Amino acid sequence: MADENPKRPAFWNRKERKDGQDEEPKSGQKEIWEQPFAGYKVYDKIAQGGSGAVFLARDERLGRDVAIKALTPDLQSNENAVDLFFNEARNVARLRHPNIVRGYDVGRTGTYFYFVMEFVRGESLGVKLDRLDRHRLQEKEAFRIVREILKALQCVFETGLVHRDVKPGNILLGNNGDVKLCDLGIAREVAFATPEAVVMGSPSYASPEQVRGDCDIDIRADIYGLGCTWFHMITGQPPYRGETAQQVMQKHLDEEADLPSPRDLDPRLSAATSALIGWMMAKDREKRPRTPQQLLNKMREHPLCKMIEEEERHRDAIARISTPTLDELKEELLGDLIHGDRVVDDDEPAADAAAATDAGGEGGGEQADEQAEKVAADAAEEAQELTENARKLEETLSEIQPQE
Ligand SMILES: Nc1ncnc2c1ncn2[C@@H]1O[C@H](COP(=O)(O)OP(=O)(O)O)[C@@H](O)[C@H]1O
Ligand SMILES: [Mg+2]
Repeated sequence: MADENPKRPAFWNRKERKDGQDEEPKSGQKEIWEQPFAGYKVYDKIAQGGSGAVFLARDERLGRDVAIKALTPDLQSNENAVDLFFNEARNVARLRHPNIVRGYDVGRTGTYFYFVMEFVRGESLGVKLDRLDRHRLQEKEAFRIVREILKALQCVFETGLVHRDVKPGNILLGNNGDVKLCDLGIAREVAFATPEAVVMGSPSYASPEQVRGDCDIDIRADIYGLGCTWFHMITGQPPYRGETAQQVMQKHLDEEADLPSPRDLDPRLSAATSALIGWMMAKDREKRPRTPQQLLNKMREHPLCKMIEEEERHRDAIARISTPTLDELKEELLGDLIHGDRVVDDDEPAADAAAATDAGGEGGGEQADEQAEKVAADAAEEAQELTENARKLEETLSEIQPQE
């Protein structure tokens, strides 16, 4: 086990997963699958970053897939890296929102600090844009993603945090349509924001105040980063480009460097979308939306918003119809048994229809009540699970976190 052997296990050096690759190890590759995280079986490497890697693993106790982010072993004695690692775990524990990746567990083996989170089956927006023809999305899909991330940012804001690294690589797109913000490694409490993040953040999506190295960074920096991300999603490129990171950062700062209009790159894009992006990317943050919610409210006036809301309603309705619960099925069967002896004359379609309406009418009301009760019960259960989850995370964190 890695605990006894500080040498890096071979799986750490494994190349990232390619599509179509087997999930189970092939015979003869066993050493790759050394398992350093007790209770979790690692299947694959999802991503390799500068300070760590993300793996797909199975939580063997609960029988669910999880993502595990582990700090590069070489950085274990690097105070700054360890601090950022725990910073992420702590922030995720504080944030509870369907559009933010959920944290499940943190741990430490001899070789690794690791953080277990919900696995989002899909890909990051960054990977998707790279892969797509012309590197861009439909305007409507981009609008939907921005709306979901703004809901996440409103929660970040209400918790008193700033993400500070909103960009395509930190937005996860689930195959089921889920949109989730991840990577809270450099997120900070507004009051304790420090300028070092800009060095680590990404030049293409960094706000002017981050580029300047200001300490006083608030949610409007995240709104700016999301504006750049939106620009990228619909045009296929980030708003400012240059030969070097320095040049790109200078353009974020430079009052003279006018924001290119997304419509210059693609005239089919709507003026309403361009205007919203312009508002988010104002160089002076006083001219940006003050909160994600303010922007969400404004977005409701956009014609795409109504289309998206309508589609969501349809999708929810279909989901309710096509997945009857066991209780609903039972009720249906019982109804058949009880009313089974009712005589309906086949020759009298009117009577048949009246009986059906009758049964539907009564059952419909009850069913609606039951459905509402079930939704409320599910929501309460979910809330309880989230709270319990966060409590456990905080408890483990306080046990294993190195003392300052
Ligand atoms: N919970 C997750 N589920 C699925 N993939 C994830 C998850 N978290 C991260 N990833 C993948 O790993 C990549 C890097 O994760 P991230 O948290 O952004 O780390 P880094 O600090 O290296 O940027 C993401 O872009 C995404 O592709
Ligand atoms: Mg990242």
